[in-house]
Amino acid sequence: MKGGAGCSACHNGALFSDGDYHVVAFPQIGHGKGDADALGGDTDDWGRARETGENTDRYRFRTPSLLNIATTAPYGHAGSYESLNDVLSHYNNPRGAIEDYFANNTLCQLDQFAAIENCQNLYPASESNSLSALDQLARERNNGTSRFANAGLNREERQAMIAFLNALTDPCVENDACMAPWVARTEDDHDDQLLEAIDQEGRAL
Ligand code: HEC
Repeated sequence: MKGGAGCSACHNGALFSDGDYHVVAFPQIGHGKGDADALGGDTDDWGRARETGENTDRYRFRTPSLLNIATTAPYGHAGSYESLNDVLSHYNNPRGAIEDYFANNTLCQLDQFAAIENCQNLYPASESNSLSALDQLARERNNGTSRFANAGLNREERQAMIAFLNALTDPCVENDACMAPWVARTEDDHDDQLLEAIDQEGRAL
């Protein structure tokens, strides 16, 4: 795993993010942002291109930080991968991971969709939208603008990578008492950090 499996091409610096936008082509699921092309219906999400209007920015999303990553599943802008292992399968072989994702109907097994009747019919353009993102990745690889090279992690390396990623999580974020000083309080606490919480009818809580 010398060189960090290529991850540090984008996940670098103190936050493990270059703050820049890249195509990694995680599955495009859900209601999207209303971006449409010939294949994608209106549930596509063109990411950075929504802001810049540039076709070359399509499907680029900002590199997220990897700090506290163990506690922030599901992953990617659409929450399409539930585990770090799934994310690493994608980095090893994005096209294979997307094909498995739709062949195995992973969408309907995700926590947020599992209970929905007729899940199969939910967001029918998810697969074609995801394939469009993969095509964009292929274009970037062909013209030399992609920083994403398949990670090529074997089983053992993948376990080591997951252990590394888990180690980026501060134990404090999994402990309510430890987090309390950073969480807005609603009790009788009169410093100016206090948030006056209200319910939907505007009554104080
Ligand atoms: C080409 C730049 C690039 C490379 C190389 C890269 N990533 Fe990413 N990574 C991203 C972007 C961009 C996203 C967000 C994708 C999205 O929102 O759909 C992301 C998302 C992730 C996520 C999910 C984060 C979250 O909060 O949802 C993890 C975990 C991750 N990457 C780990 C890795 C690992 C491990 C490697 C190396 C095997 C790697 N990345 C290589 C750019 C990159």
